[in-house]
Amino acid sequence: MSTKINFDDLTFDKFRELARTEGLSHHEKVGFPNEYREGKEAAIFQDMLAKMRSLQASGCVALEIGPGCSQLPVMLADHCAARGGAVHFVDSAEMLDQLPSAPHVHKWPGRYPQVDGMFERLTGQVDAIVAYSVIQYVFAEGNLWDFVDRSLALLKDGGELFMGDIPNTTMRKRFFASNEGIATHKRFTGRDELPEVRWNQLETSRIDDSVVLGILARARAEGYHAWVVPQREDLPMSNRREDILIRKP
Ligand SMILES: C[S@@+](CC[C@H](N)C(=O)[O-])C[C@H]1O[C@@H](n2cnc3c(N)ncnc32)[C@H](O)[C@@H]1O
Repeated sequence: MSTKINFDDLTFDKFRELARTEGLSHHEKVGFPNEYREGKEAAIFQDMLAKMRSLQASGCVALEIGPGCSQLPVMLADHCAARGGAVHFVDSAEMLDQLPSAPHVHKWPGRYPQVDGMFERLTGQVDAIVAYSVIQYVFAEGNLWDFVDRSLALLKDGGELFMGDIPNTTMRKRFFASNEGIATHKRFTGRDELPEVRWNQLETSRIDDSVVLGILARARAEGYHAWVVPQREDLPMSNRREDILIRKP
């Protein structure tokens, strides 16, 4: 099935369509070919847990923005339930409909941050916010600064915002310009050719180093600790994606 899906240039509305499409796996519904995600979700969740101390809080209140419908949000919901906490999910109604319901699971259909009533309810109340493989879509079709600022306002003292799996085009170029990247490209294509790496190129709607480092600068200027952190090496795109962790002191 994955060969028929165009995973390029996905948008919030295209994700809604994917969620409604019969016959797709849950990986495909959230925009990934099966081979990128199959058997990897536990490792992704463990990597997130290792980075986010806020998820260990007893009674932990978590918010996941763009949970999609894979096993990751289910793992997060189970994790919060085991600590006597709760989880809030914001995504399209089509995606949220595919996630299990339970008393500790709150579903907010909408395109974050345009979600009626959520900010009134959760401002200053959240231990842990997760947006995994999501901010590239907000960067391309929304207002990333509004996304960051409004998310930070939801955190309790000690709370954390984790923006994971960020595709960074400059990180990708650094990788494919390296010996390891060249060898990976040759193995993948089966051809003895160099990957194309073009540094001085306008890349509309794509996140690069300037955006990643700009998020850190803004969060730090607003009084939050902020770091870029590498992904575990066994994660599917760790050679070209990275994570940002922001903590309210
Ligand atoms: C690539 S999928 C990632 C899903 C999940 N986090 C994962 O890693 O398996 C991106 C998800 O973000 C959602 N999304 C994109 N923009 C959003 C927004 N502004 N507000 C809420 N959800 C959004 C999409 O509907 C989709 O479910």
